Amino acid sequence: MKKRLGPTTDLMPMPALLVAVRTGEDEANVLTVAWAGIVGGQPPMMALEIGSGHYSTPFIEREGNFTVNVPASTQVVGVDYCGMVSGREDPTKAATCGWTFLPSTKISSPLIAECPLNFECQVVRKVEASQGAFYLVEILETHVDEKVLKENKIDALLVDPLIFTPDGKYYRLGECLGKAWDVGKVLKK
Ligand SMILES: Cc1cc2nc3c(=O)[nH]c(=O)nc-3n(C[C@H](O)[C@H](O)[C@H](O)COP(=O)(O)O)c2cc1C
Repeated sequence: MKKRLGPTTDLMPMPALLVAVRTGEDEANVLTVAWAGIVGGQPPMMALEIGSGHYSTPFIEREGNFTVNVPASTQVVGVDYCGMVSGREDPTKAATCGWTFLPSTKISSPLIAECPLNFECQVVRKVEASQGAFYLVEILETHVDEKVLKENKIDALLVDPLIFTPDGKYYRLGECLGKAWDVGKVLKK
């Protein structure tokens, strides 16, 4: 039996990401974003929903860019903090979480050094939405910690990304079930 829930956002899992935007000379703010995902590959594109009332939003508008930082599951406390506390209350959220910034190579907003994977993103389109806007961004550069590389490729288990589910919980990756474009071959006629 199925129960109808109406329109919901109950897609799962979602990535728990940290968006960092330049707020001033050697200053940046960090907010947690889970409504985000890759939406294109050539060039690499991401879409994110960001509320209009956030402290970060005018800075995103001004800079036209931000970094998307993939935290490890061990960074869960800081991720939750950056999603609960506004930069209006704590303008140095990254420092509170024990994180530091590194300069990006192509945009003004910095990378979070302690996150194993970082994307430099340029806003290319904005679609107004009821609570904010959908930002379509082009990924101009990717940075990865060497220690999460296996045979020169990013190893998801080594990244150990933090996962968010719409019931309001955090998880880490589970077991690998096989290779994509491969396990389904057993059903091929
Ligand atoms: C798990 C989680 C996911 C979140 N996802 C989003 C999101 O996708 N978009 C958004 O605008 N805010 C999201 N938030 C809320 C913001 O991170 C939060 O309001 C934050 O304090 C805004 O920071 P700022 O005011 O310093 O910009 C999320 C919060 C949490 C805890």
